[in-house]
Amino acid sequence: MRERVLTGDRVTGKLHLGHYVGSLRNRVILQDQYETFVLLADVQALTTHFDQPDRIRGHLREVALDYLAVGIDPEKATIFVQSLIPEIAELTVLYSMFVTVNSLRHNPTVKSESKNSGLDEMYYGFLGYPVSQAADITFCKASIVPVGDDQLPHLELTRKIVRRFNELYKPILVEPRALVGDMPRLVGTDGSAKMSKSLGNSIPLDSSTEEIAARIKRATTDPARIHKNDPGHPEICPIYSYHQAFRPEGAEEIKEGCSQGKMGCAACKGLITSALERLIEPMRERRAHYEARPGAVDEILMDGTKRARAIAKETMQEVREAMSLDYFEEGRRGLVE
Ligand code: TRP
Repeated sequence: MRERVLTGDRVTGKLHLGHYVGSLRNRVILQDQYETFVLLADVQALTTHFDQPDRIRGHLREVALDYLAVGIDPEKATIFVQSLIPEIAELTVLYSMFVTVNSLRHNPTVKSESKNSGLDEMYYGFLGYPVSQAADITFCKASIVPVGDDQLPHLELTRKIVRRFNELYKPILVEPRALVGDMPRLVGTDGSAKMSKSLGNSIPLDSSTEEIAARIKRATTDPARIHKNDPGHPEICPIYSYHQAFRPEGAEEIKEGCSQGKMGCAACKGLITSALERLIEPMRERRAHYEARPGAVDEILMDGTKRARAIAKETMQEVREAMSLDYFEEGRRGLVE
């Protein structure tokens, strides 16, 4: 049996280049080698957007289109909807019995997200979402989870839950490992540490040619560099980091030209704009193909969800047995369904 990969995204907004570098790019490669599952995390999106369910509903298909646009292939990968797998919720409840509140409170990603979420209080579902994420990963016994580095604390928790479950009950769960992209996290066009839609410093994957050019044009560069011939500092310039991420073969030349004051920002931005255009142009084509066939996207999500659900039911049965919750024999279980 091939190893399984599971990963996913909250459906709070369209995906951007930061997601691409952090994990989407990896998924497209992994789907050829592994049995790949990609989750549209609508329940997790509710942890911060419970007051905007319609927004999540709208973004579900947008994110699905982003997946298809980057080349996640529904023939190879199973794309599915989290809220339609009730076993994920069941596993979350069962795991939550042996996860301490303290371990959640100290999760650095939960801490920083809760600061940025605008929520003035800590909510139960939000505090516990890493447990639900462990359920996402373990219901299909994924062994590989391609994610951005901010997700590493959640992966650690998942591994802990798996070890604890296996030792308390029966060794049936699989301990996953994280696979972080080989590039550092993509900085925002304003130079801030993270590209993020809510910070308004992202380049969405569905950008038009004009939008790419405009966002790069507006992007921050080395503030100390005023004239073209001033020596620049590529290591602090977001544009240089984009060269490293999207046209690594040309990055050295940029570094030299910039730091020696030989290459100006306009020329440097021109090169990255064309590289991004070359990256995004085939995405636009695949997106257009599916946008013209909304029924096909729904089919893909329904098929994927059915496949995922079948696996979730199997794991749930094993978990019930392991935890002595399998009260009735096979044929009689129908009585309580
Ligand atoms: N927390 C992830 C994010 O914000 C999304 C996610 C939900 C996820 N469930 C997952 C990622 C399971 C990996 C595995 O991007």
